[in-house]
Amino acid sequence: MIKYYEKEQLFKIDTPDSSYVMAVADGFLGHVYYGKRLSDYNIGYLLRTEDSPFVPSVNRRDRVSFLDAFPMEYSFGGTGDFRETCMDVINGNGQKNTELIYDSHVIYKGKKALEGLPSTWGEDCDSLDIVLKDAANDLEVTLTYSAFEGIDAVIKSVKVKNCGAHPVTLEKVMSTSIDVEDTGFEIMTMHGSWARENHIQRRDVGYGTCFVDSRRGISSHQNHPFMALVGKNADQKQGEVYAYNFIYSGSFICSAEKSQFAHIRMVMGIHPADFSWTLEPGDTFQAPEAVVVYSSEGIGCMTRTLHDLYRKHLIRSVWKDRERPVLINNWEATYFDFNIDKLLQIVKEAAANKIEMFVLDDGWFGHRDSDNSSLGDWFVDKRKLPDGLEKLSEEVKKSGMKFGLWFEPEMISEDSELYKAHPDWVIATEGKEPALAREQLVLDFSRQEVVDYLFDRMSEIIETAKLDYIKWDMNRPLTDLGSKMLPANRQGELMHRYMLGVYSLQERITSAFPELFLENCSSGGGRFDAGMLYYSPQIWCSDDTDAIERLVIQEGTLMLYPSSAMGAHVSICPNHTTGRTVPFATRANVAEAGTFGYELDITKLDDEEKAQIPKQIENHKKYYEVTAYGDYYRLASYRENGKYDAYMMVSKDKKKAYLTYVQVQAVPNSKRRRIKLDGLDAEKRYRIGDMLYAGDTLMYAGLLMPDLYGDAASVILEITEEV
Ligand code: DGJ
Repeated sequence: MIKYYEKEQLFKIDTPDSSYVMAVADGFLGHVYYGKRLSDYNIGYLLRTEDSPFVPSVNRRDRVSFLDAFPMEYSFGGTGDFRETCMDVINGNGQKNTELIYDSHVIYKGKKALEGLPSTWGEDCDSLDIVLKDAANDLEVTLTYSAFEGIDAVIKSVKVKNCGAHPVTLEKVMSTSIDVEDTGFEIMTMHGSWARENHIQRRDVGYGTCFVDSRRGISSHQNHPFMALVGKNADQKQGEVYAYNFIYSGSFICSAEKSQFAHIRMVMGIHPADFSWTLEPGDTFQAPEAVVVYSSEGIGCMTRTLHDLYRKHLIRSVWKDRERPVLINNWEATYFDFNIDKLLQIVKEAAANKIEMFVLDDGWFGHRDSDNSSLGDWFVDKRKLPDGLEKLSEEVKKSGMKFGLWFEPEMISEDSELYKAHPDWVIATEGKEPALAREQLVLDFSRQEVVDYLFDRMSEIIETAKLDYIKWDMNRPLTDLGSKMLPANRQGELMHRYMLGVYSLQERITSAFPELFLENCSSGGGRFDAGMLYYSPQIWCSDDTDAIERLVIQEGTLMLYPSSAMGAHVSICPNHTTGRTVPFATRANVAEAGTFGYELDITKLDDEEKAQIPKQIENHKKYYEVTAYGDYYRLASYRENGKYDAYMMVSKDKKKAYLTYVQVQAVPNSKRRRIKLDGLDAEKRYRIGDMLYAGDTLMYAGLLMPDLYGDAASVILEITEEV
């Protein structure tokens, strides 16, 4: 619910457990309060900070001191606030000075879509637009806030309009800012690398600025577009959390600055380093959406808020609420070395073992026998598939499975027909050879003709090969930022325009083929973010399929994104990335935390392992109702304790739950571990195996874990309400 208090000029956004309060003070929009939900009684009291409030328009003499301390809701630079700015603008005189003053507002039901960008959606929501004006530069800045019914998040975005007669250049437009008094916070972020995505880290705030960012043109393996201020005492179940997550897949920055008065200003948006945007008179610029979550009950509560938000109001695909087919992908089975006979052997074995979809990964097009050629040549390689994709698709479908195919639409190899025909389509700067990565270059997706070409090629293949699924990969960062099409004063727009091009192609493909199931991927989890989730209901989470490494990667991923979004497969051992061997059952138990599948040569599995597959799939289907729609509770973290991992998925009605326990390291001569469960109903009775327990016993005293033998042993326990 969103209210406006006329007398106090105060806005109050209430979610079930939080209130977000702003007010206009002498024309400036201030961030007044964000935290546990407040009643409306004498709400104006919040505006009192000093005994005699400072009014800048009256006390002109000390305006700078005022601006440098005021908790500005959307900060601007050049006039006296020396902390992090939300917006920097260069006007027609080449000067940089902005002052945003409240102009008007409107509160309405529902929510507008963001043009060209992914955004949350749904009718059961209230929204507020606050219009600020910069008189000297003739700019109108609209801050939009939305709150969905039953969800403890505030969704924010910003739009800038040039209302003047001269062009202006935006150098920075952040999507969100909040100002929190430091009562003892740490910063929680996620860092990583290829095959090591989403490792959670916490550190002190300290005076000055900490930030995480990506300048790679993708949200990146290295730093996730997420930051949370967490109370020093905060854990899964207790403590305050203020979290940001960005609905954007390109370069970003998120910073937390602790100022001289021990307030923390946390800001997130498109990275200004490789960004500028010229607004001609009448033009607008739309900054992406950011999700802001407050939890007074720890990190677990933040997680469940984000999961609900993304499942209900972000993912759009028809596959959102459908059971996903259990797939087998040939990447780790064959890499580039396959032919039709090999693929059909895999298909046959997979179908016989109840696998539901076959995905043909990289290497089916051009003459791609390794990763150094053919990207862009989306024509089947007849040496490998003499009768084309159509024939393979026909055979796959005959065996009762769906058929999926890998693409890397944004890329081009120098060794390709497309490059010969259109060398100017690559992103490169004048007079310098662009740097190769994985021997490939990036197509200039800011160009309409490039996007159109890819749409046509992909559409034809989707139709003729009757594709049910696409894995959309992206395997290198953006460098050498130059576009042949953009004028000199607009080259700074390339990174964001590129992202808009990618979004537009995903939008067109998913609209033209609504039944098509899209899974995004970027060298594993390099672009696993909320922006991509809007188009694809699931995203490949890491190229590291080692079950033990996955415990850490998946802990981070599941902290923000629902299980139904996280691509997780069983692969062969010794694992191709780590060389580690883990029992087949544990590989499956760990992959059960996400969308389940296999990535191995099933024809080479021994009979004992192969025999486990149909049962694993049956289990997956049984777990699915709970894992896909239920609540996730983290009980223990191998990342923290180095020995074991435990988490639960609990149905919303608390009647059914699954607990996964992985004993990473066996400890000789040890007692059985007792772990406190979570998310159950204290009043209910539950059955686990032959035993009955009270919900309160399981949660407050804990459950003895089974006595497992060996490293990497694991179990998934079914917990059912006993009536
Ligand atoms: C990177 C992806 O993450 C892998 O799963 C695989 O599709 C390769 N690319 C193919 O080149």
